[in-house]
Amino acid sequence: MTPNDAVAFSLLSDAFQADPPAMFAAMREKCPVHHANEPAPHFSLTREVDVGGSLRDDATWSSKFGPGLAFGEPGTGVLVSSDPPAHTAERLAITRIFKPSAIEAMEGDIRRLVYGLVEGFKDRGRGDLVADLGMPVPLTIMCWMLGTPVEDIEKFRNWVLPMAEAVAYVGGRQANETVINAYKSYGEYFGAHIRNRMEMVDADDTLPDDLLTRLLTVERDGNRLTFQQVMGFCQFLLVAGSATTTLLIGNVVKRLMEFPDQFEMVRNNRSLIPNAIEESLRFDAPVHGLFRTNTCPVTLHGVDIPVDSKVLMMFGSANRDPAAWDRPDEFDITRDLTTLKRHAAFGVGIHYCLGAPLSRMEGILALEAILDHLPRLRPDGPPTHVRAPVLKGFEILPVRWD
Ligand code: HEM
Repeated sequence: MTPNDAVAFSLLSDAFQADPPAMFAAMREKCPVHHANEPAPHFSLTREVDVGGSLRDDATWSSKFGPGLAFGEPGTGVLVSSDPPAHTAERLAITRIFKPSAIEAMEGDIRRLVYGLVEGFKDRGRGDLVADLGMPVPLTIMCWMLGTPVEDIEKFRNWVLPMAEAVAYVGGRQANETVINAYKSYGEYFGAHIRNRMEMVDADDTLPDDLLTRLLTVERDGNRLTFQQVMGFCQFLLVAGSATTTLLIGNVVKRLMEFPDQFEMVRNNRSLIPNAIEESLRFDAPVHGLFRTNTCPVTLHGVDIPVDSKVLMMFGSANRDPAAWDRPDEFDITRDLTTLKRHAAFGVGIHYCLGAPLSRMEGILALEAILDHLPRLRPDGPPTHVRAPVLKGFEILPVRWD
């Protein structure tokens, strides 16, 4: 029996999707380098030491073929699909927009947005926490950053999940009709939007002070990012910046409802809100894992990984590894905040999430508004899990309150 036979893992299987932590535990113990042929040949790393160690070794574990299962074309993507030195320069150019002081400056607007939404539906007594709050908060902020009308978030929402699903599909962007249509609609909408802004840049018009302007005007060695690169970055951001934070908001609320003693604790002690957000990220990492491709043959735990293999780095499993965490399968918001922040939900190494401070702030403000306005929040029927295989969380979370 090979180690692989010991655990039947597939990202797309019901067994995995029904209970990811159980599958992760079996893989960590019985086959820490797992090989699967479904939906296409790839390896998975699940131990914290292997996931963290590999992600810190970006010379061996490249992002140039993209973070999905499909092999993207090297050199066409930015940031999450690039390696140093290009990645270093791209990151430097964009970091300014995401630095903590820039995010802090957005706090007032985000607070108004979150409280406005909650005050708008609080008298209803029941609702879907995802549609009412978790989805509109990060998508509205994406509209602010990308300079699109806020009314278009309904449109964007329909593209975001199919695009996220495509990460785990062999065909990537060509995976199926829904994915193809999502990319087509995205291409038409953002193609026109970005070209329009490029014309404003060329005409020296007064430009909106947003992320899109920065992407189009940032220079490296006298060169600007190409239209294709900006298209790719905005697409990545739309998914990475919204779907994930939507999941975080749903996940933390779901766990607090499941553990009423901890809900009570945070209600009585608001200083525990950041811990609740961080423990949610550790316990229910919104992204199970993302792929790297090895630039040379690697042998790990006796398993040969041939050069140019797609290898799934399981953030969610690293966060539940008993070798790294005390009582990893207990949801406990009283854990030390500094220790908690070492979870891998935002990635590890040079690709560590640029949006981490922003999504933390969104989560904290969402929880504050819930505690202020939705007393005795409780489940109102079973939630619907998100369909994208690499994501963890809810597409619908029915709740009620007094
Ligand atoms: C709970 C919310 C979020 C989670 C769980 C999350 C997760 C991640 C992960 C795991 C990575 C690493 C990718 C890799 O290693 O290949 C990443 C990178 C990134 N994230 Fe996030 N993210 C979140 C929110 C956001 C937001 C709100 C934004 C921006 C508005 C954002 C922008 C980015 C960018 C630009 C990168 C690429 C960094 C690089 O390649 O250097 N993320 N994120």
